[in-house]
Amino acid sequence: MIAYRSCFGIINLMSAPQFFIREIPLYGDLILSPMAGFSDKPFRAICRALGSAMSYTEFVSADGLAHNSRKSWQYFTYDEVERPIAFQLFDHDVDRLVTQCQRVVDRLHPDTIDINMGCSVNNVSQKGAGAGLLRTPDKIAELFKRLSTTLPVPVTGKIRLGWYDHSRNYLEVAHILEDNGASAIAVHGRTKMQAYKGEADWRPIAEIKAAVKIPVLGNGDVKCVADIDRIKAQTGCDAVLIGRAAIGNPWIFQRKDFADVTFAERAALIRQHLAAMLDYYGPHVGIVLFRKHVVKYIKGVPYASDVRLALLTCNTADEFIELFGQWEERYERGEYYGTAVDADLFEAFESCVTESAA
Ligand SMILES: Cc1cc2nc3c(=O)[nH]c(=O)nc-3n(C[C@H](O)[C@H](O)[C@H](O)COP(=O)(O)O)c2cc1C
Repeated sequence: MIAYRSCFGIINLMSAPQFFIREIPLYGDLILSPMAGFSDKPFRAICRALGSAMSYTEFVSADGLAHNSRKSWQYFTYDEVERPIAFQLFDHDVDRLVTQCQRVVDRLHPDTIDINMGCSVNNVSQKGAGAGLLRTPDKIAELFKRLSTTLPVPVTGKIRLGWYDHSRNYLEVAHILEDNGASAIAVHGRTKMQAYKGEADWRPIAEIKAAVKIPVLGNGDVKCVADIDRIKAQTGCDAVLIGRAAIGNPWIFQRKDFADVTFAERAALIRQHLAAMLDYYGPHVGIVLFRKHVVKYIKGVPYASDVRLALLTCNTADEFIELFGQWEERYERGEYYGTAVDADLFEAFESCVTESAA
């Protein structure tokens, strides 16, 4: 049995690797998908501790790195327990991308480099980066050939199905990636034009899996444990990338649905996550950035609506912890703000009626 220690305890991993990215063993088949604004060090560490098999940073602009933007370089901060860690970069300029990949590998030693070919946001894709690269397969070929022959670490790519529905070129791109040295392909089952609309199409993921020998990571609309089993059965993919469904439910990496997580587990993780955010970002930014997680952690939890606004407007961690503790105690005692507030209102209403009748 392989085990490692993280800030969330000792993690036991399966004894045999499920698959390899070149020589790197992966002890699991569920991975947190890269998400700008979410895949930071604190959240990645939580997901790894709960079973995500590797970490991906969010996408980072090679241009920002070239200009030594502090923020760009900070996205690549990681903890050793996160290994294997993939650094994801994007750009439309092959020379700059190759140079910056080399720089980050030399300085920060990630386990793999991943190239973003899926970002649909116009100010990235219209410039030819992200999903924009799918329109220039020759550039993809040159980029991967250069990266795979110059970098000491494996290079992987994350793609969409194509730009338009009528120009889906995922099979062509998958072959180009494999032929030019890519060590794995992650596939989000949508086109650039779909952005996040409609349903992800998993059939192309199965086609790619049948067409290449390198590992294929399936992605798109995996929302619950049953979806994990479905995408694996339907596509034969080596691993599943889970994005949005992990926000508020990182337990999905333990194959637990939102409803299977107890209030106590949820409360404990909320506290741990907040502490990690404060530690990483500092007290002010930490609490503000934590709000987008809190809203998902408590979504659908009974009586969460009673505290949501108050929790989301806390400006200090002390305020948050105080309020959260009160809610937790009431929840455990079976008394909720809803009941208490209603009772107070009822009392006030009654005394008002009594006074006016007198
Ligand atoms: C807020 C947000 C930020 C994202 N940022 C990235 C990114 O930096 N790199 C990337 O490859 N994909 C990014 N994605 C796409 C996801 O990795 C994933 O492919 C997509 O959300 C579909 O998977 P899901 O249905 O499991 O969320 C982002 C998605 C969201 C919702």
